[in-house]
Order: sequence, then structure tokens, then C-alpha cells
Amino acid sequence: MKISNLLPRSALALLAILAVPLCAETFAPRATGTAATLGDGLAFFLPADLPPARVPHSFALLEPARPGGALPAGWRVTPQFSFSENRTRATIAIETGTSLYGTGEVTGPLQRNGRTVTLWNTDNFRYEKNAGLRLYQSHPWVLAVRADGSAFGVLADTTWGTELSLNGSIEFSSDGPSFPILVIDRDSPQAVLGELARLTGHMPLPPLWALGYQQCRWSYQPAARVREIADSFRARQIPCDVLWMDIDYMDGFRVFTFSPKEFPDPRGLNAYLHEHGFKSVWMIDPGVKADPADATYTSGTAADVWVHGAFDAPYAGDVWPGECRFPDFTRPETRAWWAGLYKNFMAAGVDGVWNDMNEPAVFNVPGGTMPPHNWHRGGGDIAPGTHARYHNVYGMLMACASREGIMAANPGKRPFVLTRANFLGGQRYAATWTGDNMSTWEHFRMAIPMTLNLGLSGQPFNGPDLGGFTGTAEPELWGNWVAVGAFFPFCRAHAEKSTPPKEPWAFGPEVEAVARTALQRRYRLLPYYYTLFEESSRTGQPVMRPVFFADPKDPALRAEDRVFLVGDDLLVVPKWAAQPALPHGNWRTVSLVGENSTKDKYHPDLRIREGAIVPLGRVIQSTAETSLDPLTLLVSLDGQGRAAGRLYEDAGDGYGYQKGDFLLTTYRAVREGRTVTVTVDHTEGFRPRPSRPVVVQLVTDSGTIEATGRDGQPVTLTLTP
Ligand code: NOJ
Repeated sequence: MKISNLLPRSALALLAILAVPLCAETFAPRATGTAATLGDGLAFFLPADLPPARVPHSFALLEPARPGGALPAGWRVTPQFSFSENRTRATIAIETGTSLYGTGEVTGPLQRNGRTVTLWNTDNFRYEKNAGLRLYQSHPWVLAVRADGSAFGVLADTTWGTELSLNGSIEFSSDGPSFPILVIDRDSPQAVLGELARLTGHMPLPPLWALGYQQCRWSYQPAARVREIADSFRARQIPCDVLWMDIDYMDGFRVFTFSPKEFPDPRGLNAYLHEHGFKSVWMIDPGVKADPADATYTSGTAADVWVHGAFDAPYAGDVWPGECRFPDFTRPETRAWWAGLYKNFMAAGVDGVWNDMNEPAVFNVPGGTMPPHNWHRGGGDIAPGTHARYHNVYGMLMACASREGIMAANPGKRPFVLTRANFLGGQRYAATWTGDNMSTWEHFRMAIPMTLNLGLSGQPFNGPDLGGFTGTAEPELWGNWVAVGAFFPFCRAHAEKSTPPKEPWAFGPEVEAVARTALQRRYRLLPYYYTLFEESSRTGQPVMRPVFFADPKDPALRAEDRVFLVGDDLLVVPKWAAQPALPHGNWRTVSLVGENSTKDKYHPDLRIREGAIVPLGRVIQSTAETSLDPLTLLVSLDGQGRAAGRLYEDAGDGYGYQKGDFLLTTYRAVREGRTVTVTVDHTEGFRPRPSRPVVVQLVTDSGTIEATGRDGQPVTLTLTP
């Protein structure tokens, strides 16, 4: 353990974290001590002052890096290490024509060349602090796509506050001690992301319901209001799977409690929601009210779980409940204690958990978080250290403990956790959203590159607050947002406390109809989304993908960040994307619920790739209903008259799929003469094929041709001459 890892950093380091301009620092080169292979196309570098045996525990990597032999001849991506009085740095040169992506949760465009962000998890209401250049999560990671379409990824394995600057090179400049650099070099960006997921972990397959539409507000209260919202969705026939409970359900903001006045019977409320086909997600924050009458506080104090401040005493900071203590999630004992708190909580019929404020946010203190010299005691692989060292992983460790607790409480169910703060690799534990955005066109448009870059940083399950969190949403904005947002991986509308209502029906009949159609489109596509999520849970590919994924060699696609792909087979073209850069090929417009998106004011144009088969379900009101009766296969033939596509099915929850209780079907379409035949090409998994009708819709340049049959049997269509 290096002494410098234990020491509080200097005041200068804190100023750097807070992005206060410093005088230009002088950096001196530091020799590279280790440059070794970790396997094919994988390299590991350490500066000379960091011997392999002293590399600290990695929070990003699943396994510690084990440097092997020398790098292969001609290895192309090598960092230069340097240091100044206060910072350690690694710089990686890039060739002309290289496009940079990733860097986690960031504002601004998709392509990151010329951008600088600060990796220091920050509660950033409206993205106002530091001009939105540091947000709630930190991903010390860059995906670089060369002019020839080959790609490499650079991972700086440090948790310390870091400035990530992409001005002509890739530069990680950290407030902490020397750190390792990992490089993945592959022949495509997709292959780099596959390796990133192998190294940092895959998103576990979520329950199917978590892919449905979700409605949130700070806060629906009391319980009767939650029932009213549920009833409205069903009465208005707007599909919805999840209602969210924000902080006001608690008793005086004490975590793991329910307000006796407003939510006296959470079990009854959850039962009501379940009866009506809804799941519920309830918020849990890290700050525990310092209240000797509160069971969480007293048990935490007895178990000595808190982060320490000055004089080895528990640190006290203010959040919603007033004075709070903060669990020290670096300690295995604390994580176990925290996990245990979920047993009774989940027993109230809670389906999912929302971890908020876990940067951690602290009110009325400089920097909006706990002091950098606070002390974490660690344990197991985690060394004791300052908050400056562990700040960026506080939220990740909290989400990890929450997930453990939920899994232990409901062993037969797949857990769902949403976390605001996280770190590279955090897709292992939780989905995420992009925090407190605004109801503005700027934030709506920016949500697309934000979601894409999180996907290019290893986190496929994410999305913004649809409609915008703060401010009044004009009907046209909210309508446009839900129309596009229906295609985001995480699809939840939210609203700040002081804002006017932001439910789909709050903006008048026109927007209500837009929301209904948008969400019906999503629900028809859920079988396709679920297939993509399952693929992502094995391959690490994002669900929502940048258009350059269609052809990484095409320079024209590199900066396009209004249009996006869902998987490889669907292209979403928002109304306001003037002259977008589109991938080559014949992408045919499809209509899912009778909409005409080429003429519509709100709905993005949805296009299918030639050569693709996309599975669709029925319009349902929630995933509690069966959707694949009939199964619809949307087919678009390529120039050779062929198409293929996949459908993944399982129980939608639980772990049977890990023992083979799933069905992954590859469908194939072949044209011979004027006849097109759609067959099952092959299947994986032991789940029996349900006996069900199948509708084949062949999308052609001159319209759609339809035929019906039984799933598993060939279905034949005849093209008109
Ligand atoms: C901050 C979160 O970002 C927001 O989504 C939530 O509504 C409020 N905290 C209140 O809990």
C-alpha cells in the first residue's frame, strides 16, 4: 500500500476537482515500468513508480489484471506517463481521423474530440455546475475509432478525481497517485465494447417489466394518488409497467420507513398495483437521519458502519432528513448490514429500488459532497483511504450492496436497482438515468448523445428523465420527447416537485394521443428490445447504438447524434434531425400501430434495415399480459432476397433461463422467384415453442404484404409482379 494512497490530497487537488482554474502545471515525464500483454489485443501499462505488486484493488475490473509477457511487435497504442507536484498523468497519442467516444455520462455531442470532462461524481441540478462538464457518474474510459474503422479503448484504472481531456490526444490527469492504463485494440468498436464488458462485467438480464414504460414524479402522494395514477393509465389505455415512489413516501425522509400518514399500508398499495399489472420502485438514499428513535440509525450506529470525519467520529452532513450519517460502503460489514435492511422493506411487496443522492450529495457544504479527507475504513480487497480516493465509487458500492440485499430478500426474482451515481463497471449492479435535466429542447436533444455515450462506456441500461425533470414542459416538447424517448433503453418520465403535472394526459388530448401511440410502438417492439437486452447481457453491446455502428469505416456517420439505431436493425430518425447522416442501404419505413411517421409532427421515422427480421408483439397495457399471440415478424429483404432476425423469450423474471429455460429462435426469409418463405432457421434453449399464430409482414418498397401461419411452420408470401 502506497503511503500516498492513504494521505489526504492537498488543497490544490480539491481546487482542481472543483475546476477552479489553476496556474499551468509543469509535468515531468515518468518512465514506463510495465508494458505487458494481458492477452490478444490487450495491453497493460504501469508507470515506473507503481510496481505490479502495489497496484490497488480495481473497482472497474472483475479480475485483477495479470500482466503477461512482452507486447507483440508493432503494438500501436502506448501511454506516456508524467507527473507534476499535484497530479499524475497518462497521455495517449491518436492518429488523424480518429473519432473519440465514451467518457461516460457527459453533456455535449456524441463525438468527444476536443472535449474535456471532470470525473468527479456530482449532484448537478440542471447540469448547471461546471457548465455540466461533471455529472453524477465517472467512467475513466475512451473508445477511439480510427479512420479505417478499427478501434481501441483506453481505461485509466483510477477512482480519484480525474480530468479527461481529448484535445488532440487522450489525456487522463488525476488528483491521485499513479494508476494503470489498460488498452483494448480490436478491428471494430463493437469488438472493443465486447472486451470492455468481459473485463468489467456485463449488465445482468433485467426482468422484462423493467423494459416497459415507467411513470415517476417527485412525489405521487399520498397512496391514494398513486392508485389514481395507476387507474388513469388503465382507463386511458396508455401502456405502463411501473410507478415510482420518490422520497415523500418515507416517514420524515428516514430511509426504510413509510409515512404512517400518507403511506400507512405499503403492502396494500403494492398489492393494488400488482393486481392492475404495475410494478413499483421505491427510493432509498444513503443519508440516514441521525435520529436515536430511528431503527436504521440505531442499528447502523451499533454496527459502527458510518464514514468517519474529523477525530475518527462519524461524519455528519445534511440531506433531506436534516442531519445524517453515511454508510461506509467500502467496508464489507457495512455492505452486509445495508443489504440486510432490504429484507423487511422488500417484504412490503416492493419490486425495485431507486438509489438517489449517492454521489453522495450533501447540502450546504462546499462542493456539495462530504469533505475529501473523510475516512473510509475499507476491508477485504479495499484498503482504508480518504473520501477523495473513494468518492467516485461510493454510489457504485451502495448500488452493489442494495442489489445484494434485494436478491437475498427475493431470491427467485431478478433484482432491479436504479442508481444516480456510479462508476465504470457499475452496469454489473444497476441501471441508471442521467439525473436532473431540464424541460428544454436543448436537454431533450442532448439526451440522445448522452444515452449513446453511456452505452459506449459499458452501461447499456440508461436513459434521461423523459419530458425533462425541472421546469415547465411545453406540450409540444413533452410530446416530442415521449415520441423519441419511447425508443430509449430505460424509458421513464419524471418531474420535479414544483413543476406542473407531467403525466401523458397532462398536456391535452393531442399530446395524450401522441404518448399513447409512442408507447404502443414501444410495447409492440418489446420482444425485440428484450432480445437486445439478453444479447447485451452476454455481449456488452449497447441496446441504443450510434449510427456509425452500421459502418464504422464511413466517416460521414461518425458525428451523427440525432439519429440512432436500436440494435442493428432499426433506425430512429427524429423529426428535427435535418439532413441526417444515414447509413447506406435501403432502410424502409415501418408503421407499427397505424401511424404514418413520415407525415406526423411528433413521431420519429422508424426504419428497418434491409436483410432484417424484427419480432413484434401485440399492443398490451403492461408486460403482465402476454404479448406474442400472435407473434409478428417484420421482414425486410436485402438485394439478394434474404433476411434474418432473432427472438429471445423466457419467463420474463427469475433465473430459469440460466438453466436453459429460454427459447432463442433465428428466423430466416428467402425469396425464390416471386415466393418468399419464412422459416425457423435454428433454435437454442429448452423452452418449448408456444403454440401460436404468426403474422409475417413483408415490408417492400411499394407497401407491406402480409401472410399468417403457425410459429415453427414455414410461412409463404407471394410478391406481386
Ligand atoms: C434528486 C433526483 O435526481 C430526483 O430524480 C429526485 O426526484 C429528487 N432527488 C428527490 O428525491
